[in-house]
Amino acid sequence: MPSPLYRPRRLRELPLLRKMVRETHLKVDDFVYPLFVAHGRGVREPIGSMPGQSRLSVDELLKECKDAASMGIPAVLLFGLPAEKDPRGSEAYAEDGIIQQAVRAVKDTIPDLLVITDVCLCEYTSHGHCGVVEDGRVKNDPTLDLLARTALSHVEAGADLVAPSDMMDGRVAAIREVLDESGYQETPIMAYSAKYASAFYGPFREAADSIPQFGDRRAYQMDPANAMEAMREVALDVDEGADIVMVKPALPYLDVLSRVKAEFGLPVAAYSVSGEYAMIRAAGQLGWLDEEAAMMEALTCIRRAGADIVITYFAKEAARVLERRRP
Ligand code: PBG
Repeated sequence: MPSPLYRPRRLRELPLLRKMVRETHLKVDDFVYPLFVAHGRGVREPIGSMPGQSRLSVDELLKECKDAASMGIPAVLLFGLPAEKDPRGSEAYAEDGIIQQAVRAVKDTIPDLLVITDVCLCEYTSHGHCGVVEDGRVKNDPTLDLLARTALSHVEAGADLVAPSDMMDGRVAAIREVLDESGYQETPIMAYSAKYASAFYGPFREAADSIPQFGDRRAYQMDPANAMEAMREVALDVDEGADIVMVKPALPYLDVLSRVKAEFGLPVAAYSVSGEYAMIRAAGQLGWLDEEAAMMEALTCIRRAGADIVITYFAKEAARVLERRRP
C-alpha cells in the first residue's frame, strides 16, 4: 500500500494553480513613495548612492507626484532639504519651509494623492541630530514641542498624515495633543515606532544631508539586537495615539515586523530604506543579480512578514511590473 504521501509539489506544477494558492499579493495600493524636496526651480539632482532617485524642486516634485498618481501609487512621503540649517532646525516648522510649500503645491495640484510628511529635525539642524542638543546631548523633552510644531505646520499646509521619525519618547502624545487642540482630531499619525540605529540609512543621509556632526543616533534610535524592546516601543506609541505603526528598516527586521503585526493587529508599515534600495540597485548594475526579480521578491516578502504598507523607493518600478503582469 503506498502511503498517502502529502506532496506539496502537486500545487506547484501549474502556474494557474500556483497563483490560486498564493498567500500574499503585492498591490500598487500598498506602496508609499518617498521623495526629497529642495528649494529652487527646475532642480532634479541625482543622488549618487540611490541611482534613479533625485532631490527635486517643487515644480519637479509635482511632475513626479503626477506620474506616481497616474500609476496608481496612493501616497508619497516627503523629506525636505532646507535653505539653511540652525541648531533648532527652524525651517522644519516654518510656515514657508520647503515641506510646507511642497505639501501645499501637491495638494493643490493632485488632491487625490495622499501626502505623508516625515516629522523630524535632523535634516534641518546644523548638528544633524533629530533633537535639541544641550551639553553635547540630544535632549528629549525640549524637542517634543518643536516636533509638535513641525507636525502642526505640515497639517496646516494640507498633509494627510504625519510620520514622526525622531524616536524621542512621548512624541506621539505631544503631536496628538497639539493636533487635537488645533482642530485636527481626524489627522492620523503614522509613527516610526520601531526605528533602529541602522547602517542601512547611509544613502538617505547623503540624500538628505543629515549626517550627525558628532556622535551617532544610538542614544535615541533602537539597538538592532533588540526585538522585545520593539514591542514596548510599539505599545507606547499605540497608547499615545498612533494610528499606524512602523518598523524600519524592513529586510533585516522581518521578525520584528511579523511580531508587531501578530501582537497588535494594527495597520503596520515597513520602511524599506535607502540602503536596501542601494544594495539591490548596485548588485543589479553589476549584473550580480536580477534586479527586477530581487525587487519584487523583497517587496513581497515584506508584505508576507506582516506589512500592510510598504514604503519603498522602488514604488514606481514595482508598480510598472505589477501593471505588466496584470492578466
Ligand atoms: C529622519 C529619517 C531617516 C530616514 C527616514 N527618516 C534618517 C535617519 O534616521 O538617520 C531613513 C530613510 C532611509 O534610509 O531610506 N530621521
